[in-house]
Amino acid sequence: MIVPGTDSQAVAAELAAILDEPLAEVEYRRFADGELLVEVPPQDGRAIVVAATGTSEAHVQLLQLQDAVREAGAEEVITVIPYMGYARQDEAFEPGQPVSARAMAKAISTGTDRVLTVSPHESSILDFFTVPATAVDGGPALAEPLPEDLTDPVFLAPDQGAIDLAETVRDAYGRGETDAFEKHRDRETGAVEIEPAALDVAGRDLVVVDDIIATGGTMSGAIAALGERPERVFVGAVHPLLVDGALAKLSNAGVEAVYGTDTIERSVSEVSVAELIAAAI
Ligand code: R5P
Repeated sequence: MIVPGTDSQAVAAELAAILDEPLAEVEYRRFADGELLVEVPPQDGRAIVVAATGTSEAHVQLLQLQDAVREAGAEEVITVIPYMGYARQDEAFEPGQPVSARAMAKAISTGTDRVLTVSPHESSILDFFTVPATAVDGGPALAEPLPEDLTDPVFLAPDQGAIDLAETVRDAYGRGETDAFEKHRDRETGAVEIEPAALDVAGRDLVVVDDIIATGGTMSGAIAALGERPERVFVGAVHPLLVDGALAKLSNAGVEAVYGTDTIERSVSEVSVAELIAAAI
């Protein structure tokens, strides 16, 4: 049975349809003091818990769902985390800080037989789980919603860490060049400084891709750093977190359309990663 968290309803339903497994109707409740509670239907065989952990509450809810399905009779628990929160803190960047990704991974490992996640910020975080953990690449899905008539397209990574993603999306689209910017983020203020790439974008369509769009600062900074104006600008992210007015920021940067997948359910989540997850289960 597929058992969804509050924030992963659509992708769980899609997964249930693809795998032809029942979709649990979970009761999500909250006590007067704010604590969360879930209630799942009786289980047998395997339970596939599908829950993105984009918020701290979603993380707690995932742990509860894992525990609840075992209590309800599941013999095997597979945990699918379409978007894993806290993954960007994959090392202690300053003395006294935690490796949050490790702390989360350890907690999640206690309630499951294995873990599947989509495009983690760094694949090295998979080693933090103490049960088998695998990642599927959501990148190819970002080519799907792009217009077929892109003019001499450039697929641009806003930082060096997204170069592979830019190449993946270009390959899935079938044509175009790739390039990347250098990004430096001030850890104190969060301010982003971007050094332009050498590419020529005048008269061409630009597709900027990244694993995550959070505030939109990285994407809009990259677009602003271009020497010339491209013809049209499209933006794609596997995980469209879109916090703090990110869409307005991108619109003001001249972006024609923003695309994301349903690892995070937002208005821009135009493509589903359910097929990719189903293939990996
Ligand atoms: C960080 O390295 C990630 O790959 C993204 O570039 C970052 O999370 C985007 O954040 P924001 O939209 O707030 O600039």
